[in-house]
Amino acid sequence: MKNFITFEGMDGAGKSTHLERFAATLRARGHEVIVTREPGGTPLGEQLREMLLHQAMSMETEALLMFAARAEHIAKVIRPALNAGKVVISDRFSDASFAYQGSGRGMDWEKLQRLEAWVHHDLQPDLTLFFDVTVDVSRQRLANNTMLDKFEQEKGDFFERVRAGYHRRVLEHPERYEVIDGGQALDAVAAQLDAVLASL
Ligand code: TYD
Repeated sequence: MKNFITFEGMDGAGKSTHLERFAATLRARGHEVIVTREPGGTPLGEQLREMLLHQAMSMETEALLMFAARAEHIAKVIRPALNAGKVVISDRFSDASFAYQGSGRGMDWEKLQRLEAWVHHDLQPDLTLFFDVTVDVSRQRLANNTMLDKFEQEKGDFFERVRAGYHRRVLEHPERYEVIDGGQALDAVAAQLDAVLASL
């Protein structure tokens, strides 16, 4: 069984919609499943999330706070749950820092690799589901949302870079990635996820 599973993708890629059903399927199989998210997942992490999603800050500060929230999340939630034999599903993890702060904002990839090594060198997801959508689809889905956060208010070229950053991570870590075509109809995406679940 793959115990540490992360969901990634651009805003509007549909990952959150499918995450609960994915967790419910694993629970029905008898696994104890914890669903959590980043930035966030702990009381301190949720406070940092508020700042990260709504306040302007330098790119370095943004990356450091993302990893600070992650350090707390790993220490207080992820490691204890994995050690207790539970399955942890996180809505985003470090791949998002590479995609958004690295590729999106332009922060040096190697600096992020150093932060990653410092904060969780020996802990990587066993499986990452990357919901890939074009920037057009992502923006169409966000168009109905009137309460856009700091990242969602970014322009199209930012999201092109975010998407390219995810693709780079997929190439760097092909062994743990499943790429889901998030542009398909909901039931087609669900069928792709069922195939992944069947292989776990
Ligand atoms: P998300 O979890 O998708 O929340 P919602 O679905 O409620 O909008 O949004 C979190 C945002 O944070 C998202 O735009 C991506 C961004 N993010 C980063 O920039 N870096 C990170 O390391 C993480 C975890 C998230």
